[in-house]
Amino acid sequence: MGSVFIDAPISDEERRTRLYAGDIFILSATAGTRALIGLARQMLEEAFAPCDPRTIHESKTPEEVAAILGKLKPQFIHHPECKKIIPQIMLEHGVDLEKLHFDVPRLRSAYPSHFLSSGIAYAFHPHRDTWYSAPMCQLNWWLPIYPLEPDNAMGFYPRYFGEVVRNNSEIYNYYEWNAKNRATAVQHVKVDTREQPKAQQELEPVTVRYLPPPGGIIVFSGAQLHETVPNTTNVARYSVDFRTVHYDDVVCRRGAANIDSRCTGTTMRDYLRASDLEHLSDDVVRLYDDGSEAHSNILYFGDRLVRPGPTRA
Ligand SMILES: [Fe+2]
Repeated sequence: MGSVFIDAPISDEERRTRLYAGDIFILSATAGTRALIGLARQMLEEAFAPCDPRTIHESKTPEEVAAILGKLKPQFIHHPECKKIIPQIMLEHGVDLEKLHFDVPRLRSAYPSHFLSSGIAYAFHPHRDTWYSAPMCQLNWWLPIYPLEPDNAMGFYPRYFGEVVRNNSEIYNYYEWNAKNRATAVQHVKVDTREQPKAQQELEPVTVRYLPPPGGIIVFSGAQLHETVPNTTNVARYSVDFRTVHYDDVVCRRGAANIDSRCTGTTMRDYLRASDLEHLSDDVVRLYDDGSEAHSNILYFGDRLVRPGPTRA
């Protein structure tokens, strides 16, 4: 069981060390996070106008909501303001922008379970991001846009941070997934047939739900086992999250221990340097290549979504 730090006045280096050891950090809202969720909220409210995005399931069909989200989510991901605001948030937390690399932020939605919980609004089963080709040094930053309730939040399984979970992460290759599945998310309205890494054992069904106010952040290691709590409330939950890696940790392969991830490929090409939005160099990314990239002509995602590139040997 790890510790939970709230607004801890410690260095970024020490915070990363603790996050890699399974601790979790809760950070209060700042000017930067208010700007990020303000942008998300404005885009949501415009997209669903004149309805309230939190109760949209009362006036639209799942297909209609999926179609709106199918346009809205990419618009948010690629919004130029996001790439300015995330470095600002990092600065507010004492992170060196020359060393910090981030992935474009995602806008997530979790509707009351009976309404829409697949495809574009996929309700994530218990998983580690490191079962999905995230490097062991990945940190996740998660922010609610509206007030949370325990039954429309994110659930953590802290006991499994240091305990092997039998899983089928070996089925997952990042490049294959992007080529085949991501673009079709909007089509999976009723059921989600995309095969994903899952636990292959019963889990002790005890989750911890952190409930920061809107614009507050939960920071956690990509190796934490977490899930979308099935939303049994009557309001939709909307959140923003983005992932970061720190250059020093990338090059010396520092991070959480890999106890049970066997996926292939790496998300390392997605991260952008906070100071100038440059990708990590090929030399550095190569440290994380496992050969599966040689069979793929899809190498760059993130802010560029899907861009065919040359086949790498
Ligand atoms: Fe996740």
